[in-house]
Amino acid sequence: MKKITIVGPGRVGESAAQIIAKSELCHELVLLGLEDEETRGIALDVQESAPLFDFDTHVTGSADPAAMSGSDLVIFTAGLPRKPGMSRDELASANLSVLRTVIDSILRYAPNAILLLVTNPVDILTYYAWKWTGWPRERILGLSGVLDSARMASFIAQETGFSVHDINTLVIGGHGDAMVPLIRYACINGIPIDQFLDENTIAKLVEHTRKGGAEILALKKTSSAYDSPAASIAIMVDSIARNRQRILPCVAILEGEYGENDIAMGVPVVLAKNGVSRVIELPLRQEELQALAVSAEAVRKNIK
Ligand code: 2OP
Repeated sequence: MKKITIVGPGRVGESAAQIIAKSELCHELVLLGLEDEETRGIALDVQESAPLFDFDTHVTGSADPAAMSGSDLVIFTAGLPRKPGMSRDELASANLSVLRTVIDSILRYAPNAILLLVTNPVDILTYYAWKWTGWPRERILGLSGVLDSARMASFIAQETGFSVHDINTLVIGGHGDAMVPLIRYACINGIPIDQFLDENTIAKLVEHTRKGGAEILALKKTSSAYDSPAASIAIMVDSIARNRQRILPCVAILEGEYGENDIAMGVPVVLAKNGVSRVIELPLRQEELQALAVSAEAVRKNIK
């Protein structure tokens, strides 16, 4: 990719910038913040790691929205983070108003970009980004399932002692307490996890996955997770920038898949150079579909 802009160089944005630059996923990486000097300082800090990590990505910072001009991809990480005890949904009105302002700049300066939403509540922000831009659903997506699936894989690795290299997990639905970790699709090199773990342990893993973000927030108190969200962003950007066609669970706009319409939530999609090139519809069982419908209902309530 030629140019990527990260809007909101907070902890998630800065950490994502470091990985994206280090992986040379674009030639030009722009950080767009509220404070010009501070944002330039953050960009300079990342840029000065170039000789150490050996990358040629050019990193700059600015508070001028025009700096995003011509971006191929815009990553939105701006807004308020959660405080301990808060749900992601409680951030909706504050973060939607930040998004509204930024969408106007994106429409003006980067009208052909792909837009990746990270800020919470991510399903809601992804939905409104789609509505407010009027863009095709291919170019709007959000982060959730890559992160939630990584959490689930980490917990399975801890529980079994097996390497994360071989662990495959798939979490779909909204990025909230009703998310749907698909047990049937969790495996260790193709072997279903119920070969190694009993029902009770699997139920605990599912609950742990659902509460993974809140657990970190409760421990850290002043900040949500940022290393694993940033790594998740980089995985998604890598599939788009290198046109890898990876199947990754992402927040996508649904048009009839899984019986859902006019909603954004986590489903497996193919990520390629134009963004979401395909939504994969899995043949879910009745109880899985029911869990997904509950999750969709929670998202829909918040959209309203
Ligand atoms: C998380 O799950 C902040 O939503 C983010 O950690």
